Amino acid sequence: MTHSLRIPDLTIPARPAAGTGWSAGVGPGDAGDAAVADVDVIRVRGGARLAGTVHVVGAKNSALKLMAAALLAPGRSVITNVPRITDIAIMGEVLRRLGCGVRFDVDDPVDPMVAVGGVARSRSVTIDVPEQPGVEADYDLVRRLRASICVLGPLLARRGYVRVAHPGGDAIGSRGLDMHISGLTRMGADISGEHGFVIASAPDGLHGAEIVLDFPSVGATENLVMAAVLADGTTVIENAAREPEIVDICTMLQRMGALIEGEGTSTITIVGVPRLQPVRHATVGDRIVAGTWAFAAAMTRGDVTVTGLDPAFLEVALDKVVAAGGLVETRADAFRVRMDDRPRAVDVVTLPYPGFATDLLPMAIGLAALSDGASLITENIFDGRFMFANEMMRLGADIKTDGHHAVVRGRERLSGAPVRATDIRAGAGLIIAGLCADGVTEVSHVHHVDRGYPDFVADLRALGIEVERATAPEEPELTI
Ligand code: EPU
Repeated sequence: MTHSLRIPDLTIPARPAAGTGWSAGVGPGDAGDAAVADVDVIRVRGGARLAGTVHVVGAKNSALKLMAAALLAPGRSVITNVPRITDIAIMGEVLRRLGCGVRFDVDDPVDPMVAVGGVARSRSVTIDVPEQPGVEADYDLVRRLRASICVLGPLLARRGYVRVAHPGGDAIGSRGLDMHISGLTRMGADISGEHGFVIASAPDGLHGAEIVLDFPSVGATENLVMAAVLADGTTVIENAAREPEIVDICTMLQRMGALIEGEGTSTITIVGVPRLQPVRHATVGDRIVAGTWAFAAAMTRGDVTVTGLDPAFLEVALDKVVAAGGLVETRADAFRVRMDDRPRAVDVVTLPYPGFATDLLPMAIGLAALSDGASLITENIFDGRFMFANEMMRLGADIKTDGHHAVVRGRERLSGAPVRATDIRAGAGLIIAGLCADGVTEVSHVHHVDRGYPDFVADLRALGIEVERATAPEEPELTI
């Protein structure tokens, strides 16, 4: 029955001429695209309380890399539980331009949201990888999806040459690539930068190496693992990232025939093999989306059950909710958060996994803004993550930032206002803060939210929130 549902295509709009309403899924570097553009806004009214059950589908930050990992084996790989978001559509396009066949279908199993009459938030993606995939990822896609850089490792391993546009920084920070580059160099690649591209070549193939990362970078760990699985010999990555998404990609690669040990710890050992097989793999649940709902329940003094992932992935975040006065119950693949009273102030420090996730920082600031007392929030991953604090201040939040610290003094209520989403997580955090603000809050540029949350509005409605999404014209450019 569900197969007869019409699921609108999640295709990437062709780039229109300036001034014709370019609004879908553009990244932070796109500000100058059009003199007059329409922006999508989400309006919420304060005083709402989230209650009910929400299911999270697969993690964006895993699915994007799983799609890139498919490049490692010629033939047909199928990845299920892929979130239906703009970033995934862009990654599909990146793979198509590399010569792959890419098809998005009804997910198997079908997203439970469909069973209650909603639109599916997950898809299965079938990727047909040619014997000789292309070797170039252009800036027009990479600037919209900086995670496109994750094709660097697999293409270098398969083709011995790759040219990927340098993604540059974005609204949360400067975001270097030095660890990707130095790790691949140790594996025998020759890497240079030219005309905005990272160009890597290893005509005689990559070889195993001992690599110590300066910092447990998620992206560098993924690129290096994907390069190492087809390299000649053994690669050891020390100070590797330990995120559940790293474990997910390693699990998929192991099923493809890769020899990997230590995933989920700081030392990953990979013994290269000559060839991998295509695979079918289900994406791990999205801990950041789940964490967003946990904080939303706490901020609105609600009662929310989240299904679709192992709550152990959110241990530190859920501990913070408990420290703030929330009641948290966990099961193997679900958790429930209830908050009855005004939250208490708690300090938060973001760190690589298993520490508190930087992607939940806007939610932690939102909670602190409403808590009884002052919270010290420290951001250790991205240098620009506090940029969105100015928007929270427009909602009346009392925030003082100094370098990578913020002191947030809680208030009983915030005050609704028009604000602007500056990135995916800031957008979600502002919408939730709006639920705790007097009057109406209108969050603009919510295409950022679409990049990471499949149908945020439908989920809010399922949790009892009245919410409106509309398209509003951006201010026209003034001339003189
Ligand atoms: N860094 C370097 N050099 C490198 C690599 C990283 O200086 O070679 C720095 C970055 O500039 C940053 C820090 O190290 O300051 C962490 O970067 P990391 O490589 O760990 O992050 P990422 O792979 O670029 C992923 C997620 C982010 C998430 C971070 C941290 C994807 C597509 N993105 O980014 O998710 O915040 O890990 O957990 O997986 C989001 O989903 O909204 C998002 C930003």
